[in-house]
Amino acid sequence: MGQIASKEIEELIRCETDVLNGIHKVPVVFKHNMLDVITPDDDWLADIIARAAKAGPMHYNLSLIERDEQGKERWVQGLLAREGESVDGYAVLAQIKAGRLWLQVEHLAELAPEMAALARAAYDEIKRKVKGFTYFNLYSNLLISGPNARVTPHIDVAEVFLFHLRGHKRMTLWDPSRFPIPDTARESIILREQLEDIHIKPEWENQGMEVVLAPGRGVNFPLMWPHAVDNLGDFNVSLQTEFHYPASMRRYYALYAQGLARRRLGMKVANDLPQGSIGESLRAVPGLLAKALRLHSPKTRKVALEFVADASAEGGVRWLPEGQRPILSK
Ligand SMILES: [Fe+2]
Repeated sequence: MGQIASKEIEELIRCETDVLNGIHKVPVVFKHNMLDVITPDDDWLADIIARAAKAGPMHYNLSLIERDEQGKERWVQGLLAREGESVDGYAVLAQIKAGRLWLQVEHLAELAPEMAALARAAYDEIKRKVKGFTYFNLYSNLLISGPNARVTPHIDVAEVFLFHLRGHKRMTLWDPSRFPIPDTARESIILREQLEDIHIKPEWENQGMEVVLAPGRGVNFPLMWPHAVDNLGDFNVSLQTEFHYPASMRRYYALYAQGLARRRLGMKVANDLPQGSIGESLRAVPGLLAKALRLHSPKTRKVALEFVADASAEGGVRWLPEGQRPILSK
């Protein structure tokens, strides 16, 4: 069992208040004390993995990168266990460390309540320290990934605080005011027409801001900034948290409404919704109405689960025949 210290921690986030005041505007890099409260060792992780497996695939994302006959890479999703099967959390961990699997454990309030409580405590601390900071829809998940794992450029539809716990990773962030992303791309993601991937022009690749994360470090960056992650050769564990605040909700619904207007009503809409404007608020109203009236709700994505993690199978992966792949709506 991973150790949970009983001592009271006065401060979970160590950062100059001036730096914290940059939240929502610029990336904020900080130190955190979560490792004084919790030790995310293999015993603790294996236990969480076994709990996630038991709870079922709506509680986690298990992925690996597969190459097709043409050598093209694709992400494939799988299962920790079939219904009724038990899982050896240590065996799954060994495969993640070998670089084969990437795991995101969701629903931490249920599966790792101590971690969800720490996230809430950190947010409440920020609320005390930063005037005007408020949060809702806080969602926490645990990212467990191997030495060479990477996440290609994408945007998240809520704002993120990442608390790094084990290993080293590099996050690259692109400031949308310097590297503009058209609204149409954001709309597609919000309307769930596509995954969260964002195309970064080759000439931008080395021009983003780089943040190297080690245990005890964390990062926050403004809403809908494109970002990519590269693990730096060792086993990684991070607590990832997402939240909304009034202005992020307004922007979300403005893009939602704008996306609907463009697609359903064929309206000509500019592609550069200004932030924080009255126009943004006005454009948010139809989005709220459409959602409230259920005229349009974002699609759920259907995901086929193509394999089961199985230490006794070749390469630790048991592939499921086509007719036997569970389809998940996520
Ligand atoms: Fe992300």
